[in-house]
Amino acid sequence: METKILDNPIIELKDIDVYFKSAEGNSLKAVSHASLKVTKGEIFGIVGSSGAGKSTLARVINLLQPPTSGRVLIDGFDITDNRGNDLRALRLRIGMIFQHFNLISGSTVEENISFNLKAASYPKSEIHSRVVELLKLVGLSDKLKSYPSQLSGGQKQRVAIARALANNPELLICDEATSALDTKTTEGIITLLNDINKKLKVTIVFITHQMDVAKKLFNKIAVMDSGKIVEVNDTYSLFSNPSNPITKSLVSSVLDIEIPEELVISKDSHLIKLFYAGEGAYNPIISNLSKNFSVDLSILSGKIEYINKKPLGILLVSIFGEESERLKAIQYLKDNTTKVELIKKGEHYGK
Ligand SMILES: Nc1ncnc2c1ncn2[C@@H]1O[C@H](COP(=O)(O)OP(=O)(O)O)[C@@H](O)[C@H]1O
Ligand SMILES: [Mg+2]
Repeated sequence: METKILDNPIIELKDIDVYFKSAEGNSLKAVSHASLKVTKGEIFGIVGSSGAGKSTLARVINLLQPPTSGRVLIDGFDITDNRGNDLRALRLRIGMIFQHFNLISGSTVEENISFNLKAASYPKSEIHSRVVELLKLVGLSDKLKSYPSQLSGGQKQRVAIARALANNPELLICDEATSALDTKTTEGIITLLNDINKKLKVTIVFITHQMDVAKKLFNKIAVMDSGKIVEVNDTYSLFSNPSNPITKSLVSSVLDIEIPEELVISKDSHLIKLFYAGEGAYNPIISNLSKNFSVDLSILSGKIEYINKKPLGILLVSIFGEESERLKAIQYLKDNTTKVELIKKGEHYGK
């Protein structure tokens, strides 16, 4: 008898390559040696700039894009060679939503959602009540008979979410699902996906180039660049302590505090940026600094960012005093904060 190992990741991609042939016949490597594991129940993000290979990698999960090489495991089962009925059954377990919603424009909201239920041979007599239930879940109970053209972008995406969830999938893949929406509508979709993840225990894989969305929604993140996964970490660690240069630049677009253009760094000072996990946690560190070392501090700016609902404080300070005292103070900060960055007129000069 087959024994199922319970702690299998819901998705495991092993050394995936995807090659495309260009019009000139050249081979283009869209995904290169990509391996990752997604744990059941988490919201897993794949980020990176346009062309990094995110969509291609996501499409490999349900074999919409068969990999050139590598293996795809769902729940511990290798599905790479699944075809026909096996593949159809697999795809029913995986819902998908896209940037441009992909609704059928000549069909009502009800027909759009019913379409997926019919495709899965859902009992005919129960289709209507299931659609009503799904629309309630996404907050669109009054739109049953509306056509897509009568809906806002956010409402269209809610219909697409309802449709994707129609057959109770274990997994929802979202490809740039908020990239065509304004900030406020995006917030609404983020909240909805968070609720769905908690309520229905659906694992979510979300692809985006929007680091603002990553910061709020994801539990774990893989960063892609030129087809490769260059860094994987839990969201908080990735934002507070990125290691790959691509990750650093993606993260800085969200976390940076402006260094005043007119700032003159005097010879007897250091300009540093402090990162600290925890709200208001700076106060004792800053006061200890002036008590224990012969330095003066000037706080130039600061803010608290919420990464996956946990606070990360960022503070820009100048430290004045004898160089030896300044260096001791900086060492104290390195030992007592999450990260210290030394800055020289906007450019970094070491960690
Ligand atoms: N069907 C395809 N045929 C040829 N090249 C493709 C195809 N799909 C994607 N590509 C190329 O693969 C690379 C990765 O694309 P994609 O996965 O869409 O990146 P992303 O989603 O990160 O923007 C790009 O260079 C893109 O032009
Ligand atoms: Mg894409």
